[in-house]
Amino acid sequence: MRFTIAIDGPAAAGKGTLSKAIADRLGFAYLDTGLLYRAVGAKTLQGVAAIEAAQVLVADDLDGDALRSPDVAQAASKVAVLPEVRAALVDFQRAFARRAGGAVLDGRDIGTVICPNAEVKLFVTASADVRARRRFLELSDKGLVTSFEDVLADVRARDDRDMNRAEAPLKPAKDAVILDTSTLDIPGALRVALDAIEQQM
Ligand code: C5P
Repeated sequence: MRFTIAIDGPAAAGKGTLSKAIADRLGFAYLDTGLLYRAVGAKTLQGVAAIEAAQVLVADDLDGDALRSPDVAQAASKVAVLPEVRAALVDFQRAFARRAGGAVLDGRDIGTVICPNAEVKLFVTASADVRARRRFLELSDKGLVTSFEDVLADVRARDDRDMNRAEAPLKPAKDAVILDTSTLDIPGALRVALDAIEQQM
């Protein structure tokens, strides 16, 4: 079966948790496309040119907790504005989306650019305050010292860059189901998502 579920939304809206749970439940493969941009961003912090890094990205580059750091997140959103970087990553994402057995991809432009024909599109969002609070707790749990204000500023800077870039800006596809997780817990959000998916299966 080829069945693609596209999940987009701003930073820390719960896309990753939700996507993994959906993929687990349905036995689908899961691709966190943010990791591709994070891997390119991490290379630029080491002095590699962004476009070159995107063109030679390999699976091993996607490994590592270091990719989850706030510095890498900001670097990722900076390289993500470059059309050449985005173009270099398209084929891999599209091939992943059409693999047999079904696939869940999460990112910013999956429903709009990468998989405009996805069988299901979800746009997962939450207020900036709620998202920053979640990210703050996540980073604190990992022992990464930071303040809530810094995390909120980071989330806002990334939202601004992701929504206002010329190429593949973050926005819901016209046919996306909007899922606001501000007042939902994980099981609640998962229930809404699975309902939307079941209607298309
Ligand atoms: O999803 P995550 O927060 O890991 O993504 C890091 C950055 O990568 C985002 O802020 C965004 O700029 C970029 N990105 C993108 N398109 C995607 C996935 C991520 O532009 N499909």
